[in-house]
Amino acid sequence: MAQKKILYVTSECKGFAVTGGLAEVAGSLPKAIMTANKNYKVKVLMPLYKTIHENYSSELSLVGSTTVVLAWRSVYCGVYTIKKDDVEYYFIDNKYYFDRDQLYGYYDDGERFAYFSKAVFTAMEIMKFYPDFIHTNDWHTALVNVYLDILYKKQGYLMDIKSIFTIHNIEYQGIYDKFFLENVVGIDELYTGILEYNGLINLMKGAIVCSDVITTVSPRYAKEISTTAYACGLEHIIRTNNQKLIGIINGIDTEFYNPLTDKALKYNFDVDHFSEKLENKKELQKALGLEVNEKVCLISVVSRLVQHKGMDLILDRFQDIMQENIQFILLGTGEKYYEDKFREFASWYPGRVSTLITFNNQLSKRIYAGSDLFLMPSKMEPCGLSQMIASRYGTIPIVRATGGLFDTIRDYSNDGNGFVFKDYDSYKMLEKIKEAVHLFQNQEEFVKLAQKVMSVDFTWNKSAKEYIEMYQNISKK
Ligand code: GLC
Repeated sequence: MAQKKILYVTSECKGFAVTGGLAEVAGSLPKAIMTANKNYKVKVLMPLYKTIHENYSSELSLVGSTTVVLAWRSVYCGVYTIKKDDVEYYFIDNKYYFDRDQLYGYYDDGERFAYFSKAVFTAMEIMKFYPDFIHTNDWHTALVNVYLDILYKKQGYLMDIKSIFTIHNIEYQGIYDKFFLENVVGIDELYTGILEYNGLINLMKGAIVCSDVITTVSPRYAKEISTTAYACGLEHIIRTNNQKLIGIINGIDTEFYNPLTDKALKYNFDVDHFSEKLENKKELQKALGLEVNEKVCLISVVSRLVQHKGMDLILDRFQDIMQENIQFILLGTGEKYYEDKFREFASWYPGRVSTLITFNNQLSKRIYAGSDLFLMPSKMEPCGLSQMIASRYGTIPIVRATGGLFDTIRDYSNDGNGFVFKDYDSYKMLEKIKEAVHLFQNQEEFVKLAQKVMSVDFTWNKSAKEYIEMYQNISKK
């Protein structure tokens, strides 16, 4: 079989630039695909952000440069590359757009990513890489699929390339006013209808319409996003394009998240050396100023502090939760309202509650390893990775049954691998927490469950095969 080539286009990637789960996926799926099938060659393409310049200056090598036309602008585009862990990464360089302290959050994000999307085609020329598949992710790269369809295919170019668009979160769609089309995107008025939605320009909608296949990050979420409660306004578009939508659950990088070798931990462990987990718990309690006591059940949350992660449920029932013999750790950043509330809670319960308003990968691993229970009461969760990471470190998840949480965690009462509540209701969450804390009292049973949780296969192996099957199926069309 001839080699199949994939250009994997992303706005962030672990090891280079990270704000969330997309980076985890981009940092592990390409390698998993190439491992699962040697006939597949995946190259990753992303913006050359300031931090990448700073951290990799000696390793980056220039492949070539030219200019990209974006509506009335003519702008510089350089392409650099690095090979890392057997994957070739390519970076689009333009200091005006990407030499900034953050990845996102600027007034001109729409223009920055329209430029990046347009530059993808120029980069292909410079890389001399003509893929069979272009695979893009979320709204930042959505215009790639649109440009491929209307600027190239409709004019008879790049006809053989298939395009795939993955929705990691339908909440962020890339919505702009109509001037954006002429002023930034620069496409013929004829095609306005493709990007227009509710009187505005919606980039995610454009990609959904133009792609050959749409994937999302769990089978359950694939069903949920055709309903009003989950689609954030795009339900009609999802429903009309349902025949090309599939849900494939994410895996996690089990090498990076390996309690047996993880250097962030003082005491390494695995299922057969489980007692060392307890040492991590005591270490964590000490480091965070909690009472060092193995008999107290330690519950943790590692999350962005935003509404859809279910933070309101925790706020509503916090004092009830604290009635139990537990300690509570929260690590994350997000909306100021939640940050302040959790800081306040920490001041109410000295020695029992620790609030860490920061993001720190090393610390998060120590929390995953040192806790007994991991709470994730999301209102919406396309896939969710933390429940799998916590499991890998032998920490039992308590989750709401939505999206990927539904697909990865089954309730203890059902011979499962965690505690699951169904309704988005703080009292239902409280019940489950109580149930879990009650099981903690029976250490023998609790450890048995934790060991079971730890043994679940959350590697990419199975999902990488599903991606390959998806690529093969579109090739036949
Ligand atoms: C987004 C989703 C999260 C998912 C991640 C990776 O961050 O909110 O649920 O796990 O993307 O696909």
